[in-house]
Amino acid sequence: ESDASEVEGPTVPVYACQRRTALPNWNQILTDALEILAEEAEFGNSEGRSLAFARAAPVLRSIPYAVTRFEDLNSLPCFGAHSRKIVQEITEDGSSVEVQRVLHSERYRTLKVFSGIFGVGKKTADRWYQEGLRTLDDLRKKEKKLNRQQEAGLQHYTDLNSPVTRLEADKIQHVVQDAVLRFLPGAIITLTGGFQRGKQSGHDVDFLITHPTEGKEMGLLIKVVSWLSSQGLLLYHHMKQNSYKEPTQMSVQASKDRLDHFESCFSIFKLDTPNEQMESSSTAAENIRNWKALRVDLVVTPFSQYPFALLGWTGSKHFERELRRFAVHERKMILNSHALYDTKQNVMLPAHSEEDIFAHLGLDYILPTERNA
Ligand code: CTP
Ligand code: MN
Ligand code: MN
Ligand code: MN
Repeated sequence: ESDASEVEGPTVPVYACQRRTALPNWNQILTDALEILAEEAEFGNSEGRSLAFARAAPVLRSIPYAVTRFEDLNSLPCFGAHSRKIVQEITEDGSSVEVQRVLHSERYRTLKVFSGIFGVGKKTADRWYQEGLRTLDDLRKKEKKLNRQQEAGLQHYTDLNSPVTRLEADKIQHVVQDAVLRFLPGAIITLTGGFQRGKQSGHDVDFLITHPTEGKEMGLLIKVVSWLSSQGLLLYHHMKQNSYKEPTQMSVQASKDRLDHFESCFSIFKLDTPNEQMESSSTAAENIRNWKALRVDLVVTPFSQYPFALLGWTGSKHFERELRRFAVHERKMILNSHALYDTKQNVMLPAHSEEDIFAHLGLDYILPTERNA
C-alpha cells in the first residue's frame, strides 16, 4: 500500500482529527458549495445528508492544492456520489445548478438571514418562515415576541454579522484581561476559538479563564461581568452557572452532549472604535458611531479540566465532532470539554496539556493552526 501512496501522493486519513488542516483553503469555491448544501440539508432536517456534505468539504480544505479535475477526487475519502457530482459540475461547468438553485431559493435565503440573528436557531428561523415572515423588518414590524437575546441580536444585527478582526479580538482581550486580573491576580486568560487557529477574522471572540490553584476560579465570573457591565462595556449578557458533576464513569451520551457545563457568559461587548478619519469632517460628527457591537464568549474552567476545555473550544466545530467520533469508534473512549474516559479500563484519563489528550487517543498531535477542518 505504501507503493500506491507514493504514486498518488500521501493518502488523506478518514477522520478530520487525523489530518493537518492549515490555512489557507485551496478549494474554497468547492468547499463553499458543499457547505451550502450541508446547511440547506440541515435547514431541512436531513441530518444524514447534511453530514455527508459536511464531511466531504473538510477533506478538500485539508489538501494543499486545488482540485481542478473531477478525477482528483479518486484518491480522497468521504466523497459520496452526490458530493462527487457537485465537484464534477463545478470543475467542468464553473458552477453547480443545484447550489445555485439553493442560493436563490426564498426559503434558504430567509433561513440564512433569520438564523444569522444571535439567539435564533434553525428551528425558530424555520417557524418564522412557515408563518410567512421573510425579512428583519417583518420581525420588527410584526412585533414578534422575541426573547431578550433575540431582541439584542436583532438590534445589533449588522455589527454582529460583520466579521470581527484580529485587531478587534486583541483589543477585547486587553479589556477582558484587565477585568479578570482586577479580581483574580494570577488568572490565565486564553484567546481560543478561530483566532487560536490563526484565523484573521471570526464571528465572535472566545476566551477561557482559569487559575493554577483549583477553586480560585469560583465566583470570579460574576464579579468580572458586573464590573464590565458597570463600565458600560456590555450591551447584552447571559450567564450560565457551572453545572458539572465530576463523574466516576462516562456514557457515550456524554460525548454527544453538545453543550458543556462550565460557568460561562455569552455576551455582546461594546468596543470603542475611535475614528481618526473623522477629525476633518465636523458636520457629520454627531451621526458617527464610535463603537461596535461584538459577540464575546467567556468560559471559566477549573485548572484540571483546562486542557479538555482548551481542546474543546479551539475548534473547529468539525474537528471537535471528529475527535469525539474517533474516540468512541476507534478507541472506545469518551471525550468532551471536561474529561476523557476509557470505557475498556473504566478510568478517567487525566491530562496536563492538549498533547496529553492526543497521546491518550493515540493520535499525532495537531497544532491549533492545523485544526481548521
Ligand atoms: N463551542 C462549545 N460550546 C458552545 C459553543 C462553542 O464547545 N456552547 C466550541 C465549538 O465546538 C467550537 C469552539 O467552541 O469548537 C468555537 O466556537 P465558535 O466561536 O462558534 O466558532 P469558531 O471556531 O471560533 O469560529 P468563528 O470565527 O465563527 O467564531
Ligand atoms: Mn469563535
Ligand atoms: Mn461560528
Ligand atoms: Mn463562540
